[in-house]
Amino acid sequence: MKLLLLFALLAFGEGVASADQGRFSTTLFAKFQVKGCTTCHDFHEKGRWGLAFGSHRERSVEMCVVCHSKSVTGFEHPEEWFAMPGLYTSGMDARQTCEATRSALHAKFKSRILLQKQLEKHLFEDPRVLWAIEGATPQSGVLPGGKRESDLVRGGLDRWKSDVRSWIEGGMACD
Ligand code: HEC
Ligand code: HEC
Repeated sequence: MKLLLLFALLAFGEGVASADQGRFSTTLFAKFQVKGCTTCHDFHEKGRWGLAFGSHRERSVEMCVVCHSKSVTGFEHPEEWFAMPGLYTSGMDARQTCEATRSALHAKFKSRILLQKQLEKHLFEDPRVLWAIEGATPQSGVLPGGKRESDLVRGGLDRWKSDVRSWIEGGMACD
Protein backbone atom coordinates (compact mmCIF):
# COMPACT_ATOMS: atom_id res chain seq x y z
CA MET A 1 0.00 0.00 0.00
CA LYS A 2 2.73 2.41 1.02
CA LEU A 3 4.65 1.48 -2.09
CA LEU A 4 1.61 2.16 -4.24
CA LEU A 5 1.22 5.57 -2.69
CA LEU A 6 4.85 6.32 -3.39
CA PHE A 7 4.42 5.36 -7.03
CA ALA A 8 1.32 7.47 -7.27
CA LEU A 9 3.17 10.43 -5.81
CA LEU A 10 6.10 9.98 -8.13
CA ALA A 11 3.90 9.73 -11.18
CA PHE A 12 1.88 12.76 -10.12
CA GLY A 13 5.00 14.77 -9.31
CA GLU A 14 6.44 14.05 -12.70
CA GLY A 15 3.20 14.98 -14.42
CA VAL A 16 3.25 18.36 -12.75
CA ALA A 17 6.89 18.95 -13.59
CA SER A 18 6.49 18.24 -17.30
CA ALA A 19 3.22 20.16 -17.58
CA ASP A 20 4.99 23.12 -16.00
CA GLN A 21 7.89 22.78 -18.38
CA GLY A 22 5.76 23.41 -21.43
CA ARG A 23 4.17 26.53 -19.99
CA PHE A 24 5.25 29.93 -21.22
CA SER A 25 4.89 31.51 -17.80
CA THR A 26 7.22 29.12 -16.00
CA THR A 27 9.63 28.12 -18.76
CA LEU A 28 10.17 31.12 -21.01
CA PHE A 29 8.70 34.30 -19.56
CA ALA A 30 11.70 35.24 -17.40
CA LYS A 31 14.07 34.48 -20.27
CA PHE A 32 12.12 36.60 -22.78
CA GLN A 33 12.25 39.45 -20.30
CA VAL A 34 16.04 39.74 -19.83
CA LYS A 35 17.38 43.17 -20.75
CA GLY A 36 19.40 41.63 -23.59
CA CYS A 37 16.07 41.12 -25.39
CA THR A 38 13.88 43.91 -24.06
CA THR A 39 16.24 46.89 -24.39
CA CYS A 40 16.15 46.35 -28.13
CA HIS A 41 12.40 45.61 -28.29
CA ASP A 42 11.79 48.78 -26.20
CA PHE A 43 13.98 50.89 -28.50
CA HIS A 44 11.07 52.85 -30.04
CA GLU A 45 8.81 52.81 -26.97
CA LYS A 46 8.70 56.18 -25.32
CA GLY A 47 6.75 54.80 -22.36
CA ARG A 48 9.48 52.22 -21.71
CA TRP A 49 12.31 54.79 -21.83
CA GLY A 50 13.40 53.42 -25.20
CA LEU A 51 16.90 54.27 -26.38
CA ALA A 52 15.50 56.18 -29.38
CA PHE A 53 14.40 58.79 -26.84
CA GLY A 54 17.63 58.65 -24.80
CA SER A 55 21.25 57.84 -25.64
CA HIS A 56 20.28 56.93 -29.22
CA ARG A 57 18.23 59.99 -30.05
CA GLU A 58 18.55 60.96 -33.72
CA ARG A 59 20.73 58.02 -34.67
CA SER A 60 19.55 57.03 -38.10
CA VAL A 61 18.86 53.47 -39.18
CA GLU A 62 21.82 53.66 -41.52
CA MET A 63 24.13 54.38 -38.59
CA CYS A 64 23.46 51.28 -36.50
CA VAL A 65 26.16 49.25 -38.25
CA VAL A 66 28.75 51.99 -37.86
CA CYS A 67 28.94 51.27 -34.13
CA HIS A 68 27.28 47.87 -33.87
CA SER A 69 29.68 46.61 -36.51
CA LYS A 70 30.54 43.05 -37.38
CA SER A 71 33.48 43.04 -35.00
CA VAL A 72 31.17 44.13 -32.18
CA THR A 73 28.11 41.95 -32.80
CA GLY A 74 29.81 39.08 -34.57
CA PHE A 75 26.88 39.04 -37.03
CA GLU A 76 27.59 37.59 -40.44
CA HIS A 77 25.30 40.33 -41.80
CA PRO A 78 25.82 43.32 -39.50
CA GLU A 79 22.76 45.17 -40.86
CA GLU A 80 20.63 42.66 -38.99
CA TRP A 81 21.30 44.67 -35.85
CA PHE A 82 18.16 46.80 -35.93
CA ALA A 83 15.12 47.68 -33.87
CA MET A 84 11.46 48.22 -34.65
CA PRO A 85 8.22 48.79 -32.76
CA GLY A 86 5.31 46.38 -32.40
CA LEU A 87 7.11 43.63 -30.47
CA TYR A 88 6.71 42.43 -26.91
CA THR A 89 8.35 44.87 -24.51
CA SER A 90 9.58 45.07 -20.95
CA GLY A 91 6.93 45.54 -18.28
CA MET A 92 4.57 43.02 -19.86
CA ASP A 93 3.39 40.06 -17.80
CA ALA A 94 3.71 36.49 -19.03
CA ARG A 95 0.44 36.43 -20.94
CA GLN A 96 1.06 39.80 -22.61
CA THR A 97 4.62 38.83 -23.56
CA CYS A 98 3.40 35.60 -25.11
CA GLU A 99 0.43 37.18 -26.88
CA ALA A 100 2.53 40.00 -28.30
CA THR A 101 4.95 37.37 -29.60
CA ARG A 102 2.12 35.45 -31.24
CA SER A 103 0.71 38.60 -32.76
CA ALA A 104 4.12 39.75 -34.09
CA LEU A 105 4.19 36.43 -35.90
CA HIS A 106 0.57 36.80 -37.12
CA ALA A 107 -0.01 33.45 -35.46
CA LYS A 108 -3.74 33.29 -35.92
CA PHE A 109 -3.35 33.09 -39.69
CA LYS A 110 -0.87 30.24 -39.58
CA SER A 111 -1.21 26.52 -39.09
CA ARG A 112 0.47 25.04 -36.08
CA ILE A 113 3.19 23.49 -38.20
CA LEU A 114 4.05 26.74 -39.95
CA LEU A 115 4.06 28.66 -36.69
CA GLN A 116 6.25 26.07 -35.08
CA LYS A 117 8.72 26.21 -37.95
CA GLN A 118 8.93 29.99 -37.92
CA LEU A 119 9.28 30.16 -34.17
CA GLU A 120 12.09 27.65 -34.16
CA LYS A 121 13.83 29.43 -36.98
CA HIS A 122 13.58 32.77 -35.24
CA LEU A 123 14.42 31.65 -31.73
CA PHE A 124 17.23 29.28 -32.69
CA GLU A 125 18.86 31.06 -35.62
CA ASP A 126 18.13 34.79 -35.51
CA PRO A 127 21.44 36.53 -34.80
CA ARG A 128 19.75 39.06 -32.49
CA VAL A 129 18.26 36.30 -30.36
CA LEU A 130 21.59 34.45 -30.20
CA TRP A 131 23.32 37.67 -29.23
CA ALA A 132 21.13 37.84 -26.11
CA ILE A 133 21.82 34.25 -24.96
CA GLU A 134 24.81 33.87 -22.70
CA GLY A 135 27.58 31.95 -24.43
CA ALA A 136 25.57 31.27 -27.61
CA THR A 137 28.21 33.14 -29.64
CA PRO A 138 31.58 34.58 -28.63
CA GLN A 139 30.12 38.09 -29.01
CA SER A 140 26.85 37.57 -27.14
CA GLY A 141 26.18 40.65 -25.04
CA VAL A 142 28.98 42.74 -26.60
CA LEU A 143 28.19 46.43 -27.25
CA PRO A 144 30.19 49.25 -28.84
CA GLY A 145 32.66 51.26 -26.81
CA GLY A 146 33.80 48.29 -24.73
CA LYS A 147 30.36 48.03 -23.14
CA ARG A 148 28.48 44.83 -22.49
CA GLU A 149 24.92 43.82 -21.68
CA SER A 150 25.11 41.65 -18.58
CA ASP A 151 21.45 40.65 -18.28
CA LEU A 152 21.37 37.82 -20.84
CA VAL A 153 19.48 34.53 -21.02
CA ARG A 154 21.31 32.21 -18.62
CA GLY A 155 21.83 28.50 -19.01
CA GLY A 156 23.21 28.49 -22.54
CA LEU A 157 21.86 27.58 -25.95
CA ASP A 158 21.05 23.91 -25.29
CA ARG A 159 18.90 24.75 -22.33
CA TRP A 160 17.22 27.55 -24.31
CA LYS A 161 16.44 25.15 -27.15
CA SER A 162 14.95 22.53 -24.87
CA ASP A 163 12.84 25.17 -23.09
CA VAL A 164 11.53 26.54 -26.39
CA ARG A 165 10.87 23.04 -27.73
CA SER A 166 8.88 22.03 -24.69
CA TRP A 167 6.72 25.13 -25.06
CA ILE A 168 6.19 24.43 -28.76
CA GLU A 169 5.37 20.78 -28.06
CA GLY A 170 2.94 21.94 -25.38
CA GLY A 171 1.00 23.79 -28.11
CA MET A 172 2.54 27.30 -27.77
CA ALA A 173 -0.19 28.36 -25.36
CA CYS A 174 0.05 31.62 -23.45
CA ASP A 175 -0.57 30.33 -19.90
C1 HEC B 1 19.13 44.13 -31.49
C2 HEC B 1 17.72 44.05 -31.35
C3 HEC B 1 17.03 42.79 -30.86
C4 HEC B 1 17.41 41.91 -29.87
C5 HEC B 1 18.67 41.94 -29.05
C6 HEC B 1 16.36 40.92 -29.77
N1 HEC B 1 15.37 41.18 -30.68
FE1 HEC B 1 13.66 40.11 -30.96
N2 HEC B 1 13.21 41.24 -32.57
C7 HEC B 1 13.92 42.34 -33.01
C8 HEC B 1 13.34 42.83 -34.25
C9 HEC B 1 13.83 44.03 -35.05
C10 HEC B 1 12.26 41.99 -34.53
C11 HEC B 1 11.29 42.06 -35.71
C12 HEC B 1 11.93 41.65 -36.97
C13 HEC B 1 12.11 40.21 -37.08
O1 HEC B 1 11.18 39.45 -36.80
O2 HEC B 1 13.20 39.76 -37.49
C14 HEC B 1 12.19 41.01 -33.44
C15 HEC B 1 11.22 40.04 -33.35
C16 HEC B 1 11.12 39.13 -32.31
C17 HEC B 1 10.05 38.18 -32.15
C18 HEC B 1 8.83 38.06 -33.02
C19 HEC B 1 9.02 37.03 -34.03
C20 HEC B 1 9.16 37.58 -35.41
O3 HEC B 1 9.62 36.81 -36.25
O4 HEC B 1 8.82 38.74 -35.65
C21 HEC B 1 10.34 37.43 -31.05
C22 HEC B 1 9.53 36.28 -30.49
C23 HEC B 1 11.59 37.93 -30.52
N3 HEC B 1 12.04 38.97 -31.30
C24 HEC B 1 12.21 37.41 -29.41
C25 HEC B 1 13.44 37.86 -28.94
C26 HEC B 1 14.12 37.27 -27.82
C27 HEC B 1 13.57 36.12 -26.99
C28 HEC B 1 15.28 37.94 -27.65
C29 HEC B 1 16.35 37.71 -26.63
C30 HEC B 1 16.80 36.34 -26.40
C31 HEC B 1 15.33 38.97 -28.70
N4 HEC B 1 14.19 38.88 -29.44
C32 HEC B 1 16.37 39.86 -28.87
C33 HEC B 1 15.02 42.89 -32.41
C34 HEC B 1 15.74 42.31 -31.37
C1 HEC C 1 27.56 56.22 -32.22
C2 HEC C 1 27.54 54.79 -31.97
C3 HEC C 1 26.21 54.07 -31.97
C4 HEC C 1 25.24 54.08 -32.95
C5 HEC C 1 25.24 54.86 -34.26
C6 HEC C 1 24.22 53.17 -32.50
N1 HEC C 1 24.54 52.63 -31.30
FE1 HEC C 1 23.42 51.33 -30.22
N2 HEC C 1 24.75 51.44 -28.69
C7 HEC C 1 25.92 52.17 -28.70
C8 HEC C 1 26.54 52.09 -27.38
C9 HEC C 1 27.85 52.75 -26.97
C10 HEC C 1 25.70 51.29 -26.59
C11 HEC C 1 25.85 50.94 -25.12
C12 HEC C 1 25.47 52.08 -24.18
C13 HEC C 1 24.23 52.86 -24.54
O1 HEC C 1 23.13 52.39 -24.25
O2 HEC C 1 24.36 53.93 -25.13
C14 HEC C 1 24.59 50.91 -27.44
C15 HEC C 1 23.54 50.13 -27.02
C16 HEC C 1 22.51 49.72 -27.83
C17 HEC C 1 21.45 48.83 -27.41
C18 HEC C 1 21.30 48.24 -26.02
C19 HEC C 1 21.52 46.78 -25.97
C20 HEC C 1 21.44 46.27 -24.57
O3 HEC C 1 20.87 45.19 -24.37
O4 HEC C 1 21.92 46.94 -23.65
C21 HEC C 1 20.61 48.67 -28.48
C22 HEC C 1 19.38 47.82 -28.52
C23 HEC C 1 21.15 49.46 -29.55
N3 HEC C 1 22.29 50.07 -29.14
C24 HEC C 1 20.58 49.54 -30.80
C25 HEC C 1 20.99 50.43 -31.78
C26 HEC C 1 20.28 50.65 -33.03
C27 HEC C 1 19.02 49.94 -33.43
C28 HEC C 1 20.98 51.60 -33.72
C29 HEC C 1 20.62 52.26 -35.02
C30 HEC C 1 19.33 52.92 -35.05
C31 HEC C 1 22.13 51.96 -32.89
N4 HEC C 1 22.11 51.22 -31.74
C32 HEC C 1 23.07 52.90 -33.23
C33 HEC C 1 26.43 52.87 -29.77
C34 HEC C 1 25.75 53.15 -30.93
